[in-house]
Amino acid sequence: MIESSLRIVQPDWTQPMPLAALFGNAQPIELDLGCGKGRFLLARAAAHPGVNFLGVDRMLGRIRKVDNRARRLDLGNIRLLRMEGYYATTYLLPPASIRTCYIFFPDPWPKKRHHEHRMFNPHFMDALHRALVPGGVLHFATDHLPYFADVRDLLQADTRFAEIDPFVPTPAEQTDFELYYVGRTPIGRCSCQKRAGA
Ligand SMILES: C[S@@+](CC[C@H](N)C(=O)[O-])C[C@H]1O[C@@H](n2cnc3c(N)ncnc32)[C@H](O)[C@@H]1O
Repeated sequence: MIESSLRIVQPDWTQPMPLAALFGNAQPIELDLGCGKGRFLLARAAAHPGVNFLGVDRMLGRIRKVDNRARRLDLGNIRLLRMEGYYATTYLLPPASIRTCYIFFPDPWPKKRHHEHRMFNPHFMDALHRALVPGGVLHFATDHLPYFADVRDLLQADTRFAEIDPFVPTPAEQTDFELYYVGRTPIGRCSCQKRAGA
């Protein structure tokens, strides 16, 4: 069992993180940006011990909650980072270090004048492209269909990525927000893959 303090990483904010050293091995790494209370992250990590999972959320309370649950489940392949997602993706992830990025039910910021606060925008596309390995993928889901349309437009316009079949979680992997919305409102899902050589 690993100590809580080891699972919540405290990186040097000015350097890309030494991910293999933080996880203690060189397994592929998947990223859950805005992991919330971690229902997806925990289920995924338990089902895939040969993969490392990094959960990022800006709320410390949520990071601590995921950490407590990971400790109870004795999951050694999870690390958690309390950090703003764009900053983490741009500055703390080494280039070509992430195999899969999941962004599920990010805050939609529905008012147009607040769109600049959304996780997903053209700057984020650049950060994502830098952090993904060639052939790495992004999976996105939201209940907010205008946000979904904007994200899909961004992905389809970006020739560095190719659209692929959307990721559909198993019941055990549904996030806390998805559990709330499923059956009440349509959910938009899209996925894309970083083209090799792009
Ligand atoms: C609506 S919740 C969804 C949580 C989880 N993905 C789910 O589906 O249950 C959005 C989460 O993203 C986090 N968040 C919002 N903006 C963020 C940002 N810029 N960087 C990191 N986390 C962020 C919030 O703290 C919250 O936990």
